[in-house]
Amino acid sequence: MVHKIKTVEELRAWREPLWPQGKTLSFVPTMGALHEGHLSLVREGMKQTDICLPYIFLNPKQFSAHEDLEKYPNTLEADLEKLENLGITHVYVPEPQEIYPENFQTTVNVAGIAKPLEGEHRPDFLNGVTTIVCKMLLQCLPEIALFGEKDFQQLQVIKRMVTDLNIPVEIQGVPTVRDENGLALSSRNVYLSDDDYKIACQLNVIMNEVAQGQLDELDALHKLLEVGFDKVDYCTARNSETFAIENPNRVLAAVWLNGTRLIDNIEMQQH
Ligand code: PAF
Repeated sequence: MVHKIKTVEELRAWREPLWPQGKTLSFVPTMGALHEGHLSLVREGMKQTDICLPYIFLNPKQFSAHEDLEKYPNTLEADLEKLENLGITHVYVPEPQEIYPENFQTTVNVAGIAKPLEGEHRPDFLNGVTTIVCKMLLQCLPEIALFGEKDFQQLQVIKRMVTDLNIPVEIQGVPTVRDENGLALSSRNVYLSDDDYKIACQLNVIMNEVAQGQLDELDALHKLLEVGFDKVDYCTARNSETFAIENPNRVLAAVWLNGTRLIDNIEMQQH
């Protein structure tokens, strides 16, 4: 049985002896509802370090009031089984009151690159992410922490935070895992009906057309609505370091389909 570490104190008591033993540690932050994308992070962590510690914590601070916190899938027992099958021995699963005790008052806020795109459309999201990830990294102090490239702006914002705050952890991005139809794996894909799924698979196709210069952003917007998406928050070519429109090398998109928000990003081919 995989052992559940539930408190900061227990985490530190487990982590500290690994230093004198010379054992390296990787950390895989998740909100649960694990799929192949998360498992690829765990496999990568296990490959690179002696021990990999995933955490499962549904972080309320990264959801705004009208978002899907209440219906976010909770599959803890199945998640633990998947991790155990990979050979994971310990998982950090703190309760919300352990992480945000009464009177908690701090927010970690990256400026600049956290402002456009996700920052514009989900005002609480990136601050909520940087607050939880900062706390978790400081609690665990792993050698490396792994994040999916699917949440590309999140990844870059976390890298910025770790650099700016001199947190002694290497942040690594791991390529997005897609299903056989090109849809990026996401815990939110379970919200999609069969009909939604067919539409959702068009996202990556249209983004590729933008990446290859076959569609400009306005045409992409029209095509996304035409194939059945309800709303497009953005579908835009940006620079992957600054998220400015100058020197674009990545197409990033966020779209809505029957109440579900899907995001994706792909690298642009350099001509
Ligand atoms: O990408 C996620 O699942 C979450 O945003 C993260 C990084 C685990 C923080 O809650």
